[in-house]
Amino acid sequence: MIDQTKLPNNLIFVKCTKHVEVANAIKKLVIRGAPAICVAGAYGLSLAALESKATTVNELIHDLENAQKTLFETRPTAVNLSWGLEKVMNSAKTCCTINDIKKSVIRTANKLANDDVATNMAIGKYGSELLDDNEIVMTHCNAGALATVSYGTALGVIRSAKDLGKKVKVIATETRPIQQGSRLTAFELKHDGIEVDVIPDTAAGYVMGNKLINKVIVGADRILSTGHVFNKIGTYQLAILAKYHEIPFYVAAPLSTFDLNNKPDDIIIEQRNANEVTSIGNQKTAPDDIGVINPAFDITPPYLISGIITEKGIIIQPYDASIKKLFD
Ligand code: MRU
Repeated sequence: MIDQTKLPNNLIFVKCTKHVEVANAIKKLVIRGAPAICVAGAYGLSLAALESKATTVNELIHDLENAQKTLFETRPTAVNLSWGLEKVMNSAKTCCTINDIKKSVIRTANKLANDDVATNMAIGKYGSELLDDNEIVMTHCNAGALATVSYGTALGVIRSAKDLGKKVKVIATETRPIQQGSRLTAFELKHDGIEVDVIPDTAAGYVMGNKLINKVIVGADRILSTGHVFNKIGTYQLAILAKYHEIPFYVAAPLSTFDLNNKPDDIIIEQRNANEVTSIGNQKTAPDDIGVINPAFDITPPYLISGIITEKGIIIQPYDASIKKLFD
């Protein structure tokens, strides 16, 4: 995996050979983004299967369950991680021999990785229909190739529009505190030759008020059956601003991001370390011994969302009905 904490200054590839290393990489945001941590988790379980010294099927399943717990506990908000781990565990539990389990978990992880690319390309294809030539799209955080296996969800829509010959420019919000927008989104768009301007998060109202963008497209970490969207902190305020300025606000996400079982209050919003807020890199930007609130995600209610772009098509309000139909 690419060490995303080192971007954009250093492009460093990290090799994990133990599931605990994968869990640490997810926890430390070496790898981040809902679909990327799903697939990383699945490969983490594959490593756990290869590491195991179990001599019976039951022992191996027990080792895998322990590894599943370790990987699951790394980050609580994106549902894709538990979805991917569950898929691998289910494939393991249908096997009758140790060898078959080991082969099956690796096969399932490979399938999840390959499916993710195809899914993102389908999201891109549907989403690109929403974009005209010469559109300027605001995005938040990083929902691109780095956050997935490849291509991206929100940025997949941009890539797909570009592949169709449309000229699209991106306004990327910096995304404080840890700057996934300026460090990662700007990095990968520049890499692909897609024009991008970075703005401080505080300029979002200025940009919308001055009609400098036509649409907002963001990714998601979890979407409930009601259409409530959990995504990077700051998404909610962008959705409110977009509504106020009558700018369409879209969410691009695969079906693996949907959680049809929980209500908004059931979901744990990850709270991250205070030093992400009180410093940038090694530079302190706030006095010592102050209080800090540092939630990693927020909830955007369905009435602020113009549409959700999935690999099965674009759904619109009322989301409880359109999501039910999508899964039926
Ligand atoms: O804390 P992060 O960087 O993992 O948060 C990522 C996001 O919020 C993304 O928008 C989301 O995971 C979708 S990625 C396709």
